[in-house]
Amino acid sequence: MEPFITALDRALRAVSGHAHAARPSPAAAVESRLSEADRRRAAALMRVNHAGEIAAQALYHGQALAARSKETRAWLLEAAREESDHLAWCEERLAELGSRTSRLNPLWYAGSFAIGALAAAFGDRTSLGFVAETERQVEGHLDEHLTRLPAGDERSRVILREMRADESRHGSNARAEGAASLPPPVRALMQRTARIMTGTAYWL
Ligand SMILES: [Fe+2]
Ligand SMILES: [Fe+2]
Repeated sequence: MEPFITALDRALRAVSGHAHAARPSPAAAVESRLSEADRRRAAALMRVNHAGEIAAQALYHGQALAARSKETRAWLLEAAREESDHLAWCEERLAELGSRTSRLNPLWYAGSFAIGALAAAFGDRTSLGFVAETERQVEGHLDEHLTRLPAGDERSRVILREMRADESRHGSNARAEGAASLPPPVRALMQRTARIMTGTAYWL
């Protein structure tokens, strides 16, 4: 019973919209001046990134719950804690942009948690392989957003760059921990699933 209560507590913290950052937001050091159209566009992109970080929390939490070894579980939860800075930074930036988080966050969390638990059911090496592949795809996604953000939005851009550096480190750490490489159809399915989420969270 206890692991489930802990899992529920983590879920509620993630979707409650009050993420706490252990590290200050990189945006604190820079200024952005945006037109109304640019502000709206930046907000939509940052809402997608926020939803992505909700999904990241849920994947890591689902994987941690179903992890075989104590070491892997601890490793996953540590990565999730770092990821919660990303969640808080995106949340803060969205509020600055005068916008809201995705209404579908509970759905993103639930779906991603189930996917994370499923990945972990195939064993710790597959689970770590799932982390490595997810983070690789997230890096690609962040690169795309770095070019799509309005030119004047340096504040959002520094956040994404810092996130990208963390995602890259999570990926290489997972490989160092013995991540198995995933079959191409699984990787393609992960990419398609992520596209549905990012496409929807832009609007909703
Ligand atoms: Fe992240
Ligand atoms: Fe990550």
